[in-house]
Amino acid sequence: MNRTPEPELMKIPSQVRAYADADFSRSDSMVVKGLEKYLKKIGKTLNKNDLILDVGCGPGNICERIAKNWPFVKVVGIDGSKEMLNEAEKKLCKSFSNNLTYELIEINSIATGEKKFELKADVLVSNSALHHFHDPCRFWNALKKIGKENCIHIHRDLIRPSSLEKAFELKEKYLSNSPEILKKDFYASLKASFTVEEVNQQLVNAGLSQLEVFQVDELYFEIIGCI
Ligand SMILES: C[S@@+](CC[C@H](N)C(=O)[O-])C[C@H]1O[C@@H](n2cnc3c(N)ncnc32)[C@H](O)[C@@H]1O
Repeated sequence: MNRTPEPELMKIPSQVRAYADADFSRSDSMVVKGLEKYLKKIGKTLNKNDLILDVGCGPGNICERIAKNWPFVKVVGIDGSKEMLNEAEKKLCKSFSNNLTYELIEINSIATGEKKFELKADVLVSNSALHHFHDPCRFWNALKKIGKENCIHIHRDLIRPSSLEKAFELKEKYLSNSPEILKKDFYASLKASFTVEEVNQQLVNAGLSQLEVFQVDELYFEIIGCI
């Protein structure tokens, strides 16, 4: 099945609300567990004031988990949708006030150099963000600019199914009890996402081929490494 891109930024209020209300806890926790496992594997610990950037953070669920798990690091969620960041900021409570903040940034503008982003990350994280980019090179180029040398990367995203029928089947299997708007978005996301082979090629083209891509299950791939 060919890729059908979807709008990059998620700004439609009903769509943002449905996404923020949805329970993605299983997938969200996998990002934190994946990072823990990788740190252990390479024998690295995070230090006080290290910076973790969550790129395309949406309503901030993963930022919150990271900020709780590593309360001594700085966590910054970046997203180009004010509507999404409003949802994230609503949940900012005192316990996060020291180590979690959000910034409104359109990521293509970092890739093109239109916007300077002063922060440099020790760890770059993203979940279900890559497939939103009409031109995935822009995503990788932005990440190269905002990561320090030896930056740790962990990215997760959906795998594009082989056919519309398979995408429909996955939507019904995983979101059968979800609101219609979420199901519609999930279906659009499956059609907009990339295959593992395409992501491998993107990484080669971006000079990031040291990052490893592997399929996690029938829905997701993970990209992990240090560069
Ligand atoms: C499917 S949501 C994922 C949100 C979050 N990472 C999560 O897993 O819950 C994708 C997010 O990426 C953001 N996004 C997409 N393209 C972007 C861009 N070019 N610049 C900044 N944010 C972008 C959208 O606004 C949206 O909030």
